[in-house]
Amino acid sequence: MSNKQILLEQIRADILTNNICPDLAKTATNLVMGDGNIDADIVFIGEAPGKKEDEQGLPFVGAAGKFLDKMLVSAGLNRSDMYITNIVKYRPPDNRDPLLEEKEAFWPYLVRQLDVIQPKIVVTLGRHSMEYFLPDQKISVIHGQPTRVAFDATEIVVVPLYHPAAALYNGSLRATLIDDFIQLPKIIEILAKEKEK
Ligand code: URA
Repeated sequence: MSNKQILLEQIRADILTNNICPDLAKTATNLVMGDGNIDADIVFIGEAPGKKEDEQGLPFVGAAGKFLDKMLVSAGLNRSDMYITNIVKYRPPDNRDPLLEEKEAFWPYLVRQLDVIQPKIVVTLGRHSMEYFLPDQKISVIHGQPTRVAFDATEIVVVPLYHPAAALYNGSLRATLIDDFIQLPKIIEILAKEKEK
């Protein structure tokens, strides 16, 4: 196991030991920590696991995940190059919105995951993860716009996107999300060029 894997396993163990969100833990099948490349430059952060994610213990494997996969492909990005996680790591009953106290309880563990992975870009999917990186902002105004954010001791670029589940059944949101997604490789390229300078 690499050092990063050990640190990520420790975060999982700490969530269990510290009994985070015991009510959610009782109804959930799995703690869904995240999946993908732990050396990724880009981390996608959703809301909370749904039914399929809870069953499989993996993020974004249901309908929203299939749509996310399609958008990644159409943007020329590879899911296996990304790391994908959620702010809340247990499925809320009946897929209700995560509560403020649930997001707050899980936030320190998300910060620790990002400290281990050290991405350059964080793509937030939906407002529940956006509001922690870009507080007091409206997704309808800032979606798709990369913003530099001070994060722990470093700086990351946050790209807020609509949530794929919200866009799945709403034609105009869907078109907007696809347009924003297609811009992602350009953003990645610009950041890489800035680094070379
Ligand atoms: N929606 C999310 O926000 N996360 C998942 O993992 C699945 C659906």
